[in-house]
Amino acid sequence: MARLLDVKEYKVYYQTLKGQIRAVDGVNFFVNADEVFGVAGESGCGKSTLGNSLIYLKAPMRYAGGNVILDGMEISRLPDEIMKKMRFEKISIIPQFAMDAMSPTKKIKNIVVDLVREHDKKMSEKDIIDLAIKRFKMVGLSENVMNMYSIELSGGMKQRVVMVISTLLNPRLLIADEITSALDVSSQKFSVEMLDEFKEKKFVSSVIFITHDISVLYQIADRIMIMYAGHVVEIGNTEDIVSKPLHPYTKLLISSLPKMGVQFSQNRLTGIPGYPPNLLNPPTGCRFYDRCPLRIDPQKCKNEIPPLVEYMPGRYIACWAYTKGNDKNG
Ligand SMILES: Nc1ncnc2c1ncn2[C@@H]1O[C@H](COP(=O)(O)OP(=O)(O)O)[C@@H](O)[C@H]1O
Ligand SMILES: [Mg+2]
Repeated sequence: MARLLDVKEYKVYYQTLKGQIRAVDGVNFFVNADEVFGVAGESGCGKSTLGNSLIYLKAPMRYAGGNVILDGMEISRLPDEIMKKMRFEKISIIPQFAMDAMSPTKKIKNIVVDLVREHDKKMSEKDIIDLAIKRFKMVGLSENVMNMYSIELSGGMKQRVVMVISTLLNPRLLIADEITSALDVSSQKFSVEMLDEFKEKKFVSSVIFITHDISVLYQIADRIMIMYAGHVVEIGNTEDIVSKPLHPYTKLLISSLPKMGVQFSQNRLTGIPGYPPNLLNPPTGCRFYDRCPLRIDPQKCKNEIPPLVEYMPGRYIACWAYTKGNDKNG
């Protein structure tokens, strides 16, 4: 399968007065063409930092290492003027809280036109409006929406507007950050169906779907990546991750989910005791060490970062229990 995005040892830190916050700290993953790649993990694990950094790397965020290759091109350190041309056209994002960020004093029409014109000077205002109306109709919004203000729209309608705007120029890769989190169940379902349809119609090729809610990923993602405290802990096919999680953290995450079409050994929410580490001064070894029920080799777990290894074809795990010699204890 062709890879659209390849991310290697990628690090993104926040420069603060107290020091560096190591929000994304050496992550490795790839996204295939035409897939929905889910990214999940507890709040604060670096999901939004990862997504945002691929598009707008601005202070206090800073590049701290590694590579990001999109469609064969290294994009991690491109000057902003060049990156600006790629946004919307090659890679686009629906940022977390995008719905709230829509200007309350501009009509939707002007929001659409201004956003697209900022990146694409060639398209005329009329072309942008015509295209937007066509897409709005596809998602069940009438063209009257163009003359409305965002405060006049329901949450579900706003989400559709945001989704249409971010995919208007048919980007290869769309990053969708918590787009279902603020919505009721039926609007969530609609958003997920819309994304599917946009993929089918080739408005987008691949989607990085970020959420703290794995049960949403079960409906939409081909593969899932689990993050913990700025690291990747596990990557695999959705079905495998959900029905047979391997990393101790993934196991706890999955067991804390209410039942969703898959029979789990425990149906109640168990939660995960403890808190993720402070990313200002993270532990030297495995970041899950403090909360890990397994600790296969305590000295090693505490002191050495487990590498992400391909434990089985297509299944990547970063845990000392799954590296050579220790793999009986999954
Ligand atoms: N603008 C910022 N300045 C400093 N630290 C930040 C900023 N934004 C996020 N962080 C920190 O980076 C870490 C990752 O945050 P984030 O990427 O938002 O996580 P997630 O999206 O998984 O909830 C957290 O420790 C958070 O406090
Ligand atoms: Mg976030």
